[in-house]
Amino acid sequence: MRKNIVAGNWKMNKTLQEGIELAKAVNDQVTENDDIVILCPPFIHLTEVAKVINKKNLFLAAQNCASEESGAYTGEVSAAMVKSTCADYVILGHSERRSYYGETDEILNKKVKLALANDLVPIFCIGEVLEEREAGKHLDVVKTQVEKGLFDLSKEDFGKIIIAYEPVWAIGTGKTATPDQAQEMHKYIRDLIAQKYGDQLANDTTIQYGGSCKPDNAKELFANPDVDGGLIGGASLKAGDFVAIANAF
Ligand code: 13P
Repeated sequence: MRKNIVAGNWKMNKTLQEGIELAKAVNDQVTENDDIVILCPPFIHLTEVAKVINKKNLFLAAQNCASEESGAYTGEVSAAMVKSTCADYVILGHSERRSYYGETDEILNKKVKLALANDLVPIFCIGEVLEEREAGKHLDVVKTQVEKGLFDLSKEDFGKIIIAYEPVWAIGTGKTATPDQAQEMHKYIRDLIAQKYGDQLANDTTIQYGGSCKPDNAKELFANPDVDGGLIGGASLKAGDFVAIANAF
């Protein structure tokens, strides 16, 4: 059965010292149960944050990794390096990476494979921009992202993937998808997975929602049958808010 997972994407926020304090506070407050909670600090915080967390359901993710294995790629961080910090997950394909850093479906597909080869679980982000939704193309956009990013994986590898549906118009805008909009898209994604890999794998895949998810709207979003948690930006920067969201199931 699929897991509920809430992940906090700190993006480019918090100095090392501030990040350690935030991680300690989350570790103190998080409820130890079967739901998974993930902190996604900047790369350079990972090893230090790893030292201050010890709850059995609290894990670490990087926010990205390189599309090449190793070598002369100044400024890049490889999947193997991420794994060596104690991180178990990696966010890939965030809309900020796609739009500001030109990450294409093809590049992301390479990153997914390198992450899997290095025993990292990808949290693969997909989602449409406002114009695409207004033009009624949101389902097609997401379908293409899933197909090009993930659908050449073996059944076994696909079974390790977490998907995060993040409508770009909801990210950092205070505008949240309605529970119905989230459910419609999550169900659509699950149906795509079922057509490609079968019902069992589709039912076992965690699909998170992301985009202005806060303590006051998490409960109604997570109450949808196909919404299995959240990828949280702004609200993950305050331990109390983040833990409240993690407790919203
Ligand atoms: P916000 O929660 O700040 O809207 O960000 C969502 C997000 O992009 C998480 O990856």
